[in-house]
Amino acid sequence: MDSIHIQGGIPLQGKVRVQGSKNAALPILAATLLTGGSSFIKNCPRITDVFAMIRLLKDIGCRVSWQESGLHVDASCVDCREIGTEAVTGMRSSLCLLGALVGRCGSVVMEHPGGCVIGERPIDLHLEALRQMGVQFREEEGRLMAAADRLCGAKIRLPFPSVGATENVILAAVLAEGDTILEGAALEPEIGALCRYLKGCGAGIEGIGTGRLLIQGGRKLSGADFTVPADRIVAGTYLLGCVGTGGSVFLEDAPWEEMKSVLELAEHMGGKICTSGEGVYVQAPRRPRAVECIRTETYPGFPTDLQSVALAAAVRADGDVMIRETIFENRFRVVEELRRMGAQIQVQSPDTVLVRGVDGICGVPVEARELRGGAALVVAGLMARGETTVTGCRYIYRGYENICRDFRELGARVTGA
Ligand code: UD1
Repeated sequence: MDSIHIQGGIPLQGKVRVQGSKNAALPILAATLLTGGSSFIKNCPRITDVFAMIRLLKDIGCRVSWQESGLHVDASCVDCREIGTEAVTGMRSSLCLLGALVGRCGSVVMEHPGGCVIGERPIDLHLEALRQMGVQFREEEGRLMAAADRLCGAKIRLPFPSVGATENVILAAVLAEGDTILEGAALEPEIGALCRYLKGCGAGIEGIGTGRLLIQGGRKLSGADFTVPADRIVAGTYLLGCVGTGGSVFLEDAPWEEMKSVLELAEHMGGKICTSGEGVYVQAPRRPRAVECIRTETYPGFPTDLQSVALAAAVRADGDVMIRETIFENRFRVVEELRRMGAQIQVQSPDTVLVRGVDGICGVPVEARELRGGAALVVAGLMARGETTVTGCRYIYRGYENICRDFRELGARVTGA
């Protein structure tokens, strides 16, 4: 079903469990290709991006099957070096297959990877880093051909800590000849999860959690069991949904240690937060308090993936909130739809908007155009009086297992898939 219907205006209340992380699961699934054996990936989220990745893995010879508690991947017979078109162009994270397949097979041919329509999303950092490891690239009819006679470890410095480029270097480096030193690596926790999975398979990686990784290449990797950590972005979506509606919720398994900037924002907006080994509890005031500025940054700063949802919550603030997006361009596409619901938002420059908080917004039909913007519209629907219909929900299902069920568990009146 491509639309979600929401009867809004009810503060979220109750408890919900947070699913496994999309951005951790996808590179780990790509990494299974580097092993000659079987891996069992527990808590793997059942989202359409994972389903697309499974199709790609099967295309190239892996045996993949769902069990109740996770995903079984057998990568003992990887035989195809050309990656199917459709799944790649729809999913940016298929890009990490580049590093993984160059590592496993020495070469790969793939379509230019897609993903959400947020900004240009160039891949120059990926290509330049892999070139330093001996990979040569050609482009023919929009297809990217990568090949390395000898994949060699290298000393690489990323000029910007790109999450995807860091993952590609790690994936290529674990099977390369010699050691790789990667400086300027991204600090996002999903990188740590990828490294821990690979270490479980026998890889040598030091410096996990820092901007300087030392990767020992050339070790033979076995498969491993691994539990995907909970999704900090999904947890943040529900938390900010609680702040926007003035509710009180407990987010079971929420990875609060990775959510400091988000919890800080929720506190500044008036929320009372309690964290424990079991998750995060938040109690929000009836109306969110205005904050001066929300600025997206690389980790541990406020995540760009929660900018649209924070924007939706800010719409009901008791004053002005400035929002600055510093990571991706075109991430304000949701503004137009929020305005149609009665939000007062001024676009001040391509990367800055000023939200003038209003007491209430109204449900209208709106359209999701990308993943996180879509989730933000659902949150806005929960905050709005009357009925909101969100269409284009296929984008939302790329990252949320069942956003309707989860919000229903929090007392919302939501129907859809
Ligand atoms: C990953 C996440 C995405 C998140 C983003 C930032 C996954 C599957 N996706 O995306 O959800 O929003 O991190 O936290 O994990 N850039 C370049 N050249 C490159 C690569 C990136 O200029 O070669 C720029 C991008 O245009 C963007 C910035 O760097 O402005 C951040 O991109 P990056 O960290 O690479 O994000 P992704 O890995 O694509």
